[in-house]
Amino acid sequence: MTPAGLAPSDPTPGTDPGLVPGVTPGLEPGDAAGTEGAADDVPGVPGAALPHPRRTTDPASYLHAEAPGPLLAEGTAADVYAVDDETVLRRYRTSRESCSEVAVVGHVVDHGFPAPRVLAHGGADIVMERLHGPTLLQSLAAGETTIPDAGRILASLHERLHAIPAPPGAIDDGSAAAGPVVVHLDLHPGNVILTERYGPALVDWSNAGAGSAAVDVALTALILAEVAVDAGGVYSQAARALLASFLTATAVPVLDALDEATRFRTGDPALVVGERELVPAAAQLVRELVAVAGRD
Ligand SMILES: Nc1ncnc2c1ncn2[C@@H]1O[C@H](COP(=O)(O)OP(=O)(O)OP(=O)(O)O)[C@@H](O)[C@H]1O
Ligand SMILES: [Mg+2]
Repeated sequence: MTPAGLAPSDPTPGTDPGLVPGVTPGLEPGDAAGTEGAADDVPGVPGAALPHPRRTTDPASYLHAEAPGPLLAEGTAADVYAVDDETVLRRYRTSRESCSEVAVVGHVVDHGFPAPRVLAHGGADIVMERLHGPTLLQSLAAGETTIPDAGRILASLHERLHAIPAPPGAIDDGSAAAGPVVVHLDLHPGNVILTERYGPALVDWSNAGAGSAAVDVALTALILAEVAVDAGGVYSQAARALLASFLTATAVPVLDALDEATRFRTGDPALVVGERELVPAAAQLVRELVAVAGRD
């Protein structure tokens, strides 16, 4: 069911507000049509995999192209271009290397986790499978996904991801955040695409690596809480409700990992202006809602 005015298209530049507290989000959800079926799926359960069409062009030929295609979406760190119907090129705006996240994505895809298959990479560019559908954030804004369902989708993605052992050779730096499983460390509704092919799928693997499931879950709680405590933010009430739903849906205790998640979040260089200041109040809100839920 596509609400009037929501054109069926991929996430459009500037319309994915991301869960960035302090930034006024655009309110035009992109591909609402893509939620049909997907939003009604049991959260986290992928649809049947469809065969991939045969590619006729070498994906590596798109690397470093001056004009890879129309701009599909702008994140805070990267631009995503539509190369063709099956392919996107994600390009960091800085000279950051993409190879560590490529290894993690390859590993999780090999384990059947719903993430875009990497086709080629080099320098700041990744050519990858194009996922069709709205982000979970867009779908929430369009009223296509309910808040309890969104909480379950986020919890389910965490659960499935943390069932995957860390990739061989992943660096365990001995920090409290280190751990034995794959972690995403930026799992929020702006990074989930609701696809028909895979069900809810996860993008933006720039922070991913080996780590602790509890820290990953606590980080999602913290990111949602940042939006909730952002006074005057368009999504603050909805984010508080989503945080409560997420805390109900996840079986992972978050309080023990909250300090480590707070440290990680505060030190994340990708935070935008105003975001870092919200982290302490966000952590406090997570504590309060965990207490209300009688959890941990
Ligand atoms: N494989 C893909 N297929 C289709 N769309 C994608 C794909 N990867 C990313 N996108 C779109 O591009 C947007 C930005 O991508 P991504 O989150 O990787 O960039 P970013 O700069 O790291 O974002 P952030 O603002 O979260 O830091 C996503 O929210 C999504 O809408
Ligand atoms: Mg993102």
